[in-house]
Amino acid sequence: TEKRTLLYEGKAKNLYLTDDERIVLAAYKDQATALNGKKKDQIAGKGELNNQITSLIFRELNRRGVKTHFIEQVSKTEQLNTKVDIIPLEVVVRNYTAGSFSKRFGIEEGVKFPTPIVEFYYKNDDLDDPFINDAHVKFLDIASDDEIAFLKQAALETDAILTDIFTKIGLKLIDFKLEYGRLPDGTIILADEVSPDTSRLWDADNNHLDKDVYRRDLGDIIPVYQKVLADLQAEFEGK
Ligand code: C5P
Repeated sequence: TEKRTLLYEGKAKNLYLTDDERIVLAAYKDQATALNGKKKDQIAGKGELNNQITSLIFRELNRRGVKTHFIEQVSKTEQLNTKVDIIPLEVVVRNYTAGSFSKRFGIEEGVKFPTPIVEFYYKNDDLDDPFINDAHVKFLDIASDDEIAFLKQAALETDAILTDIFTKIGLKLIDFKLEYGRLPDGTIILADEVSPDTSRLWDADNNHLDKDVYRRDLGDIIPVYQKVLADLQAEFEGK
């Protein structure tokens, strides 16, 4: 087997170059982190679950016309993605109050917003991913006005599709984080992952089926992520 060149080492996955310069291989890892890496654990089986969940969701997003980097899942822990230059923004969409929003404004979790809220965070570990506004994005030369408008619109369209996907398996999509990247011609497409690591998913009884189980020491994430995957597979793959 060929030796792969590591392109990028992340907290939750590694990216490798492939024989095709337009394609990268994402290998999902068993590492879980929270508090910007201050809490860290190896959780056997997590990489497999997030790769499978993300693959299923991105397949569905592609099918419904969202332009994404996802090409195909190639093993339990790996998928092929179109190579992009990642825009250093975490685009967070919130449908209900939770997490840092609830903390910042002193509002209980689980209050539904009349319309979803889009937020930008500057992807920078040294700075702890600060919350930034449109003017900051422009000043830092991260994206143009047109691109900022595109990102907000695209994130809201993806929110509508993801909300539909999770509603079909009885889960409320509380909030989530997206990342976008540029193709060589400047086209912006959805990249990274969508999984219980990057979203908040609550069931009808407001049980948390997401990484808050790890962040808040509520129990073992593996059976939780397994349930999310199994329910998605039953709904979308007839398994
Ligand atoms: O922490 P906060 O409430 O701002 O997170 C909002 C959403 O973005 C959550 O679903 C969380 O899992 C996700 N997120 C993420 N990666 C980060 C920060 C937040 O996936 N670095």
